This record gives sequence, C-alpha cells and structure tokens, in this order.
Amino acid sequence: MSETLERVPIKVRRPDSWPDIPAHVPLNLVHELDYLDVNTLADPFAGTKDIYKDLPPVFFSPFTRPMMYKGLWVVTRYEDIREVYQNNDRYSNAGAANFQQLVGETFQSLPLSADPPEHGKYRLLLNPWFSPKAVSVLEPQMKAVINDLIDSFIDKGECDVAYDFGRIYPVKVFMDLMGFPFEKFEDFLQWEYAILHSFGNAEKIAWGVQGALDFLRGFIEEVRKTPNEKLGSGIVHGLIDGRPATEDEIIGTMFFLWVGGLDTVAATTSLMFRRMALDTALQQQLRDNPSLVPEAIEEFMRMQPLVNSTRLVKVDHEIRGVKIKKGDSIMCYNAAGNFDPEEFENPREFRLDRPANRHFTLAGGSHRCLGSHLARRELRLALSEFLRRVPPFRLKHDASMDVYPGLIAVPRLPITWS
Ligand code: HEM
Repeated sequence: MSETLERVPIKVRRPDSWPDIPAHVPLNLVHELDYLDVNTLADPFAGTKDIYKDLPPVFFSPFTRPMMYKGLWVVTRYEDIREVYQNNDRYSNAGAANFQQLVGETFQSLPLSADPPEHGKYRLLLNPWFSPKAVSVLEPQMKAVINDLIDSFIDKGECDVAYDFGRIYPVKVFMDLMGFPFEKFEDFLQWEYAILHSFGNAEKIAWGVQGALDFLRGFIEEVRKTPNEKLGSGIVHGLIDGRPATEDEIIGTMFFLWVGGLDTVAATTSLMFRRMALDTALQQQLRDNPSLVPEAIEEFMRMQPLVNSTRLVKVDHEIRGVKIKKGDSIMCYNAAGNFDPEEFENPREFRLDRPANRHFTLAGGSHRCLGSHLARRELRLALSEFLRRVPPFRLKHDASMDVYPGLIAVPRLPITWS
C-alpha cells in the first residue's frame, strides 16, 4: 500500500458535560465522534481505525440533525450492527431520509421509511426492476455511456475522473432506467448535490428538494398520460398490494429512488479511483488480473461505506448492558463495522482474496439496498472498461484529494497518464 494511504489516529472529544443529553444516558458513554474531518485524511475512513480501542462498543453521540434526531446511540461492532439491521421488532425506519420536510411536504420516502410488513409491499413493486436479470438488460447502455465518456478524454492524457466520469456516468444510467429526459441532466446534478452535500445548510438542501420535487411532479403527470416501458412509468401505473399507488406513494418512491440512486454510485466510483490513483500497485494488479474486478469491487465497497444508517428505537431494551429507550435514535456505524477485526481479518488491508465479504455498505436486513445489483454492475463495468482503455494513471501533480462529508464523496480528482 502506498504511503499516502497511511492512517491517522481517531479524533475523539469528550467534554465533562454536554447540553441536552437525555437523562437515561450515562455521561461516561457520551462521545463526540469527529469523523467530519474527512478532508484532512488521506484515507477518508481512517478516522475509525482506533474505534475499538478508544470507544465503548455502544456510545451516545451528541450529533444533531435538525428534524431527525438530537443525539443518537452509535453501535460500532459487526454483530451489534447486524442485529440492529435485522431486528424489526426493536428498530423502526419511520421518518427515514425525510429531506422533504424542509419544504413542508408530508409524504414519506419509500420504501425506506416503511417497516415490515408494509415495507414488503413496496419492495414487491420495485424488486423486478432491480433483479440481476433486469440489470443485465441495461448493460449495453451502461457500456455505451462509459465508453462515450472515455472517448471524450482519452486522447488528452488526463481527465478529472471524479468530475468528468464518476459524477456523470451513474446519473445517465439512472435517468435512462427511469425514463427521465436527458436535457435535465445538469439540473439533476445541482439539486442532488445540494441535497446530499450541503451538510447543515438547510436552505440549500431545501432548494435542491424543491427543484427535484417540481421536476418529479411534472414528470409523473406526463407519464400518467403517456405510459412507457421505463421504471418511472412502472411506478406511476404500478399496483401496491393489488391497488393503484396513491399520489404520496408515487412521489415518495420516485423521490427516494432519486436520492438513493443518483449519488451513491457516483461517490463510490470517485472514491474507488481515488484509491487506485494513490495505490498504483493495486491498480497494476487489477490490470494484470481483470477477472479479480468483482472481488475488488466488494473490497472497495467494504472499505468505502458512504452511508451510516439510522433507526428509531421502538421498545426499551439493552445492548451490552447499556439501556436504550423507546424514542431514542441509533446509528449503525458502518464505517466501523466494516473494519471489525472479529469479522474481517486485517480489516484495514485491501484484500482481493477475502473469503467472505459480508460488509454493510449496502446495509442489511429488510432495507438492504434495492439497487445493490445495479450498483455492483455499474461499478464493475466502470472499472473494467476504464482499465481496459485508459493506460496506468496517477494523480496529477498537486491534485487535491479533498473528500466531502455528508454522503462522503470526492468532488474533483485530476489524474494523468502517458
Ligand atoms: C454503491 C452504491 C450504493 C450504496 C453505497 C447504497 C447504500 C444503501 C444503503 C446503506 C441503504 C440502506 C439505508 C438504510 O437502511 O437506512 C440503501 C437502501 C436503498 N437503496 Fe441503495 N445504495 C447504492 C446504490 C443504489 C442504487 C443505484 C439505487 C437505485 C437506483 C439504490 C436505491 C436504494 C433504495 C430504493 C433503498 C431503500 C431500500 C429499502 O428501504 O427497502 N441504491 N442503499
């Protein structure tokens, strides 16, 4: 591994007292996890390196998200995270990803915010569109998008692989899947960036949400009148539990697909290229062994968990002797669970021969990512085609490696090749 990927120590602050800590939370379990310092880290996930040494397995973070939670429990061990994902009797997803509240909307993000058994009804409508077979149908279009992008910069000997490639490719694939008009592409990117990367800036998030919703509502009206064979139309005309979907269900499903499907693959792609530009030995290994790309994608995903899912506690209970109360929020800290040495041998090492790579980057339990097959295929194709066509690349001199918090992403990554 190259030196630039060296890890830095975790930054944990624990003042003697915190404002607004619920009475049932012991103060010795309150810790601030300063993981927003991502820009200073060569490896953006290095912040959790010492988490098992420095922090209790279950702790309370005073981190606040307006309208979502005011402080929350954090579980960091693999087994505890799995339990939170899988135990629907204890943990609920009610109100999840409710960005739309900011503009006074009352619909829910679906299927994410529904709990079983209702949740299953929404998944039944969507699952066929995201099966491995359905994803294979999209493959020629994916390859065409990738190769058009590569054509646009291959002769220049350089590109901004985050901005010119990672940012664009998954969005085009998603727009095609949904049947969205391509001329809206730049607007989409701006709304989406405002929602997912304006950490703490409610006004900017609200602007992005409103732009996206105005577009989606117009789109829904159009496909209602003129159905087609794309997913967007499938949702508008789809049946949920044998009845037509309501207005709220349609916009809630479209909006969450939009939030979940646009940026996650883009961010993962850019982080993947960031690592390869820094770790040129790994890059060469994959060039020499293209058949290892699927294993590499799993390892990129394990080591780049973008999302840390949060759940609402439904009943009083204990985790490792810690009292958790109904109404508390709890976060599955995937950025720690994916590096649990009890589950992953030498967890900070990028290994192409991991026997079982059951990471949490696509979550777990009933809300396991709907787009997991699509995401994997997109990432595999992007990596294979890029390595097939673009010569060995490295970071451009003085290139910034800055990583954005929120949904962790690299906005710019200039690379060069001979
Ligand atoms: C590398 C890319 C991706 C990552 C890292 C990712 C991550 C996740 C995670 C962590 C969850 C669970 C959230 C929770 O339980 O709170 C999730 C759910 C979801 N994802 Fe993805 N995702 C990716 C790609 C996609 C794509 C491409 C789509 C669709 C086009 C998509 C659509 C969804 C949907 C609809 C859900 C909600 C599933 C449910 O509640 O049943 N995701 N994703």
